[in-house]
Amino acid sequence: MPMRTHTCGELRPDHVDTEATLCGWVNTFRDQGKGLVFIDIRDRTGLTQAVFDQEDCDEQVMKLARSLRREDVVQVIGSVGLREGGINKKLETGQIEVRGTSVRVFSRANNPPILPDDHEATKVSEEARLKHRYIDLRRPSMQRTLQMRHKLSMLTREYFHALDFLEVETPLLIKSTPEGARDFVVPSRIYPGKWYALPQSPQIFKQILMIAGCDRYLQICKCLRDEDPRADRQAEFTQIDLEMSFVDRDEILRIMTGFIRRIFKHLLSLDLGDIPRMPWREAIDEWGTDRPDMRFGLNLVDISEIARKTDFKVFASALAKDDGVVKAIRVPNSADKLTRKKLDMLQETAKTHGAGGLPWTKVTDNGFEGGVAKFIDGVADELSATLQVEPGDTILMGCDSWLTACESLGQVRLHAARELDLVDTTAWKALWVVDFPMFRWSEDKQRWLSEHHPFTAPIEADIEKLESDPGNVVSAGYDMVLNGSEVGGGSIRIHDSSVQERVFKILGLGEEEQRSKFGFLLDALQQGAPPHGGVAFGLDRLVMLLTSTDNIRDVIAFPKTQNGADLMTEAPGPVDDAQLEELQVRCLEQVAAE
Ligand code: AMO
Repeated sequence: MPMRTHTCGELRPDHVDTEATLCGWVNTFRDQGKGLVFIDIRDRTGLTQAVFDQEDCDEQVMKLARSLRREDVVQVIGSVGLREGGINKKLETGQIEVRGTSVRVFSRANNPPILPDDHEATKVSEEARLKHRYIDLRRPSMQRTLQMRHKLSMLTREYFHALDFLEVETPLLIKSTPEGARDFVVPSRIYPGKWYALPQSPQIFKQILMIAGCDRYLQICKCLRDEDPRADRQAEFTQIDLEMSFVDRDEILRIMTGFIRRIFKHLLSLDLGDIPRMPWREAIDEWGTDRPDMRFGLNLVDISEIARKTDFKVFASALAKDDGVVKAIRVPNSADKLTRKKLDMLQETAKTHGAGGLPWTKVTDNGFEGGVAKFIDGVADELSATLQVEPGDTILMGCDSWLTACESLGQVRLHAARELDLVDTTAWKALWVVDFPMFRWSEDKQRWLSEHHPFTAPIEADIEKLESDPGNVVSAGYDMVLNGSEVGGGSIRIHDSSVQERVFKILGLGEEEQRSKFGFLLDALQQGAPPHGGVAFGLDRLVMLLTSTDNIRDVIAFPKTQNGADLMTEAPGPVDDAQLEELQVRCLEQVAAE
């Protein structure tokens, strides 16, 4: 006899008068005291009501049925009948019930600290849910998410298999592959004092696979970056990683656009339509970010020329900078809602993102009032016409060098939209951001950094100005942005070792460091490297969009907290002294104490 004949979501009126054996967790129990015990039994597929009637069951069975409590694991055998107590329209199995004749308890749940109930979950702390993840994952919405992840992986493999991609695994214990974050490192027992790095991505390996003739590569892989987790960022996350040989940017974007459209079509019955491209400069200039959320307006407008005509010192000092600008956004119908307190919060947002402040004013029937109104009095008409203002608007301004002014105002734009509920949550806006700058200057480090990663190629026309004008070199990189979330990024790669060496040099890597860190790549590039390029999509971020959550921990079975801890296993934890000894690793604190 099989342990179960049906799942808990399967039985329908067609099954009436047949025998069924179900296994699952006790979701709810009700002893109505009239010789009837009701139990909802649950597995990943749904719920079925089982009823034990003392008229039909012997005393032993009734006693056991009465003893059942939430989350006990049971087997129920009985015959399927139409529900006597009326149909439950909320349940797929709501027309039937199983009239139990036998029940077996596989295991008891000892006073569950949380319950797997989607409604209850909102009242329980996330810490409790993560600590008892084995219960939390039983929740229907968590099960749906796990299924969504699974379907996404299946579709991914299907789509790329049909296009002749090969799935190849790459190692976890490697020499560092930089993606701009800190490495997690693993000490080597065999080579004391030497360390492996865990991959921030398989970037170099997938390029080596192209040099190795693999042609088209796919991997659904873990990436590890020692950075602080955020709402859409985990230290350990999953990428859909892809690379192709003998392709240009257009071909890669065509195939990847097809992939993303297909996912949304299959999983949400949604046609994302053509996915437009937007140059990075336009994204920053109009939306204040390289991942614009285009589900709402509040675009940035350049008012530098008007601002120049005022005597306002804040504008003047910004405009005195090399590429100083004054930008503004018009927030309609917000004058009442953006109270002083809220404007202060927006000001903080602007400051956190590098701006000195957030000049603002409001539009009334009598023109600009409040905030910096008196400083713009002389240009009020021109400004009103340019911004097409209406009474009730708030005008928020950013003034600084171009990038800082745009990016800080871009963050204010997002914050204001959330505050005022302006995001159309039914809309889907996808785009490719292209033509990124190749390098970004770091004031902290006083050197150029890669905007993507050091293996990204410059566009051909700009190779010659790599050294002479690095700040204006355009890269062959691209990002896919969906509803303001960066869901993927990639580039055409450098396949010429001399160009790679030049780029390393601009990034501050001397010849010796280049050899010690990336000698194997430079050697490989000299052994017949095809033109190649690729992309990696953040699988977790795609699932976040597919399941409409803002919290990346909701889409990962066993995520880490904001502090990088696994509350269930209590990782990270100490290791034995003997283990450390073997690795010849000692903790500085311990050394100091000795
Ligand atoms: P990149 O670093 O842009 O590129 O990563 C690609 C995509 O992975 C997702 N992602 C993350 N998701 C969750 N938590 C994180 N900490 C995290 N970091 C990144 C994002 C991002 O767009 N090797 C290159 C790809 C390439 O050039 O082909 C890379 O890793 O959705």
